[in-house]
Amino acid sequence: MIYLDHGATSWPKAPGVVEAVAHFLEHESGNPGRGGHRLTVAASRSVEAARENVAFLLGADPERTLLGPGATFWLNTVLLTRLNPGDRVVTSALEHNAVMRPLRWLEQSRGVEIAIVPGEDPDGLPSAGDFRREIAGKRTALVVVTHASNITGAVLPVAEIARAVAPVPVVVDGAQTAGSLPIDFSGLGVAAYVCSGHKGLLGPPGVGVLLLGEDFDVDPLVRGGTGSRSESEEMPEHLPDGLEAGTPNGPGIAGLGAACRWLVERGVAGVAEHERGLARRLADGLREFSRVSLRGWHNDAPHTGILSFTIDGADNGELAARLDREHQICLRAGLHCAPAAHRRLGTFPDGTLRAGIGPFNTEADVDALITAVRKFSILNS
Ligand SMILES: Cc1ncc(COP(=O)(O)O)c(C=O)c1O
Repeated sequence: MIYLDHGATSWPKAPGVVEAVAHFLEHESGNPGRGGHRLTVAASRSVEAARENVAFLLGADPERTLLGPGATFWLNTVLLTRLNPGDRVVTSALEHNAVMRPLRWLEQSRGVEIAIVPGEDPDGLPSAGDFRREIAGKRTALVVVTHASNITGAVLPVAEIARAVAPVPVVVDGAQTAGSLPIDFSGLGVAAYVCSGHKGLLGPPGVGVLLLGEDFDVDPLVRGGTGSRSESEEMPEHLPDGLEAGTPNGPGIAGLGAACRWLVERGVAGVAEHERGLARRLADGLREFSRVSLRGWHNDAPHTGILSFTIDGADNGELAARLDREHQICLRAGLHCAPAAHRRLGTFPDGTLRAGIGPFNTEADVDALITAVRKFSILNS
């Protein structure tokens, strides 16, 4: 099997992840922070060690590194607790539904005004100047922007955007960049950064990360037990407890900690170069076929290991099924939970075929996809 669906989730996981999950379940499976017996202490240590690893990898303060069920959860937490009736929020035309759906809900239920920066670039990629113009003369409560498109892999200049719109706080959806591009949160100048644990970070599903800047606070989206300040019926204010109600996903967090340790040792810059290099090889191979169109791809622009394409006259879903059935190649067809971005790219409603390259893919994997696409695009069957 050739796995090329890293935009959706990573596989295989980083070396050491499966072992860390099993170790937690077998030897550390108390309830972290709840009580003082040995299994609880082991669980707490494991979760806190994992938090340290995540924070170290991403250049963040461990106390302001929050671990929860996923990127979607943390994006909802930030958007729903920071945006109040009548507020204005600015975003890009390339957002995933993890941003667009909470924003549309806020628009309908709280009258939040959404301004979408169309981006002067033909593929909807906004510049820092586009954002500056969008906030000029208008009171804006928040900017929320993806760090890289989950459809085209194009990377947005989030640090420049943050400088251009300051003092408006910028929240970055880093679901497609954590682990795939070097991230130093402390130097990014953004208010918050959210990412999934199971994509580029190569951990198990069910864990996501919120990094909070020093001056940027959010309220909890859910409230409940934390194991701390149990005498109180209100959430504690200190972090991380104040935003982490309920029993955490200990095995998932332990797995994520092991994945981040591996990424630190491997070096994310090396991973990024590897993934980009293979994506470019794929782009160069596919470009040779007259019926194939690369979508939003530019060889010289910053990008991750994601590449979207379409084949004239072919049904994306059917092609993906045939790639799996006939060539054992796993990739994803359709809208990739980002209909707004496909509208902007002109690929709505059919979407694209999306290859997502990961750290363990090889040139042979990419060449196998090129060979399979050659067959489809020449034979038209
Ligand atoms: C850009 C982007 N944002 C947010 C998400 C949501 O991540 P999760 O499903 O891990 O919560 C995804 C997942 O596909 C994504 O690609």
